Amino acid sequence: IRQEPEAASKYIAEYVVDRIKSFAPRPGQPFVLGLPTGSSPVLVYRHLVRKHKAGEISFKNVVTFNMDEYVGLPPSHPSSYHSFMWEHLFSHVDISPSNVNLLNGMAEDLEEECERYEAKIREYGGIELFLGGIGPDGHIAFNEPGSSLQSRTRVKTLAYDTVLANKRFFGDDVSQVPNMALTVGVQTVMDAREVVIIIIGAHKALALQKCIEEGTNHMWTLSSLQLHPHPLIVVDEDATLEL
Ligand code: GLP
Repeated sequence: IRQEPEAASKYIAEYVVDRIKSFAPRPGQPFVLGLPTGSSPVLVYRHLVRKHKAGEISFKNVVTFNMDEYVGLPPSHPSSYHSFMWEHLFSHVDISPSNVNLLNGMAEDLEEECERYEAKIREYGGIELFLGGIGPDGHIAFNEPGSSLQSRTRVKTLAYDTVLANKRFFGDDVSQVPNMALTVGVQTVMDAREVVIIIIGAHKALALQKCIEEGTNHMWTLSSLQLHPHPLIVVDEDATLEL
């Protein structure tokens, strides 16, 4: 728990940098990092960029897999998660574009696209560290309440509350928010060797309480983290109001 979002974000950025730097790869093995979008990780990315510019961290040996992407938005759309990631992180660090993986929400065959993504994660030997955020309903990636805890990358219809929560990224116009997305599954996240979650703000306080003080269940999908061998949740003080 850190008092302010800034301190929580800095803690995570330092943690991720330490993990990348202390990673002892076999020859040719990259650090495989899962990444989220949303307003919560923005400050984390700002810190990572700052650290990169200060020469503290290189992303040359990092491969990334993003959690999710809207269906029907081209990568160039300003509200796509592709655009978000390039704007906030990838354009400012030395990552090779060929090491960046995002789901393609415009794929002709969406199911095949999801299978391709899972296969690619497997090819890399799995994700070392999955960084994530949550929605106010406790969803991780776009695994809305009711998602199977064994789910893998798939097409998901978004809960109306999620569409409403994300309309701020679409000029506050709810009609512009796609109601479907491609998302990694709960199990895809849980398979990562380490999962780090950032939770900022009082509007996530109920979700944090449900996910860590009650049992593991599919209505609050982050609660599955209770079964993970190496989880870390970093929060600001506002997010702890219901604990
Ligand atoms: C979307 C993303 C989630 C993210 C959530 C929270 O729903 N699919 O991965 O955790 O937004 O976003 P914010 O940090 O803006 O509250």
